[in-house]
Amino acid sequence: MTQKLPEEIRKNRHSKYPIHPLILSRWSPRSMSKEPLSDEELMSLFEAAHWAPSCYNEQPWRFIYAKQNTSYWDSFFSLLTEYNKKWAINASILVVILSHKVFTHNQKPSVTHSFDTGAAWAYMALEGSTRNLAVHGMGGFDYERAKIVCKVSNDYQVEAMVAIGKRGKKEDLAEELQKKEYPSKRKHLTQVVMEGYLQ
Ligand SMILES: Cc1cc2nc3c(=O)[nH]c(=O)nc-3n(C[C@H](O)[C@H](O)[C@H](O)COP(=O)(O)O)c2cc1C
Repeated sequence: MTQKLPEEIRKNRHSKYPIHPLILSRWSPRSMSKEPLSDEELMSLFEAAHWAPSCYNEQPWRFIYAKQNTSYWDSFFSLLTEYNKKWAINASILVVILSHKVFTHNQKPSVTHSFDTGAAWAYMALEGSTRNLAVHGMGGFDYERAKIVCKVSNDYQVEAMVAIGKRGKKEDLAEELQKKEYPSKRKHLTQVVMEGYLQ
């Protein structure tokens, strides 16, 4: 499977057991070109996300987005930490991801709304990776103010933000960010997988 991996992945990532190249190839670039994404391309990412599995097929994920150069952009961008602003300024789209905390069929609290929504985000990131887009998750933003900006009621939880864009040049990033611009490694599998009980 390794011959299908892009050079930047092959240099940095090695899986002990064989997995689909799609999985190893996804990573979170920060360099983006500011070039607009077509609506078609953006919607394909959301389409991918919404094919994720969820408890009772509730599909608790919600994606609220703002495009560069629209009236929504500034309020979304203002939510980000200064660190994230440095690179996300060149994104084409910012997304706030929400999850619906209660089941529609009985109005009872869902235990899995965040888990399900995490799966949807991962699908979106994978679809973006197949299109050579940068799809970068962010926890560095003002969660409370995101509720106000996106007019979120108490039935929903703000989960994360995502910056999406066409890949840009690493050299255009601030120097400290250039050092981190490569596909990261992982812990050893035995640190996260255990038989029978937590060790
Ligand atoms: C929920 C979530 C929040 C994250 N928050 C940030 C963030 O605020 N700023 C940032 O630069 N990267 C952020 N990241 C990116 C992670 O640092 C990155 O996914 C991790 O280092 C693994 O690297 P990879 O995605 O390239 O495999 C976040 C990722 C996720 C999934």
